[in-house]
Amino acid sequence: MSRHLLQIEGLHPPQIEAMLDLAESYVLLNRSGKTQRDLLRGRTLINLFFEDSTRTRTSFELAGKRLGADVINMSVASSSVNKGETLLDTAATLNAMMCDLLVIRHSQSGAPHLLSQKVDAAVINAGDGTHEHPTQALLDALTIRRRLGRLEGLTVAICGDILHSRVARSNIHLLTAMGSRVRVVGPPTLIPADCGRLGVEVFHDMAKGLADADVVMALRLQKERMGGEGNARPGGNPVPSAREYFRFYGLDFDKLASAKPGALVMHPGPMNRGVEIDSAVADDPVRSVIKEQVEMGVAVRMAVLDSLARMQRRNV
Ligand code: CP
Repeated sequence: MSRHLLQIEGLHPPQIEAMLDLAESYVLLNRSGKTQRDLLRGRTLINLFFEDSTRTRTSFELAGKRLGADVINMSVASSSVNKGETLLDTAATLNAMMCDLLVIRHSQSGAPHLLSQKVDAAVINAGDGTHEHPTQALLDALTIRRRLGRLEGLTVAICGDILHSRVARSNIHLLTAMGSRVRVVGPPTLIPADCGRLGVEVFHDMAKGLADADVVMALRLQKERMGGEGNARPGGNPVPSAREYFRFYGLDFDKLASAKPGALVMHPGPMNRGVEIDSAVADDPVRSVIKEQVEMGVAVRMAVLDSLARMQRRNV
């Protein structure tokens, strides 16, 4: 594996499996209430989020602290970025402070990759534009593997705004690499034209797309990206109204009935209830694993920090 985690694309199944196995050990450690504060003692982790986040930023902070790192959450809103400092000058500044692990979220696809060429720290992509969100795909895979015992041979339906979703892209790369069949389901305006190239089946009808699925993943309409990067209809609204969208693509129990009886319901969050998912489905204690995804997020990020820090030690 590279000394950074920039994307899932290009990772080999044994590398993904090894990361999930390590994360599994952190699930057990977290549930026991113990920590491992010696592992990253003396290491500095900086969270650099140019976009909003609840789950990813908090779980990287928790993960770093549970492993003993000094964790800094840089507030971009009150930083010198607001005075016109560029991303690369910001990175060079943090580099001079001897940061070891740099977690970055940015609206531009490729920003973490650019940064990784300029700093000594290990760079972790916490979501870049419409490109990838690798730790989200790892935590989703861990959740599925723990519940269903495997990834190979499963049918996973990813529903909604595929076009603007870095979560969809990372999940497609990971799940197809691990032998799952992936379907994307949504209106034509929200499915990338070249989606078939990624090895997925495309559906525009929920009943057909969810038929016999083992896992149903609902995605948020990414309004903040509509009209911008990667949009098939620049400036236009790809859905007529939230109400109409829910009628055709909102995950409710009627649509979920097409999937396997025990199919898992997933959502990366944040959810827009009544738009892409019905509250009754999201909160169903049997079918929904949305809260478990959040728990797995901490364990996966501990595993990622652990393995990248070990690689740095080897390179000293
Ligand atoms: N799933 C996810 O990335 O959530 P946040 O935007 O809250 O980090």
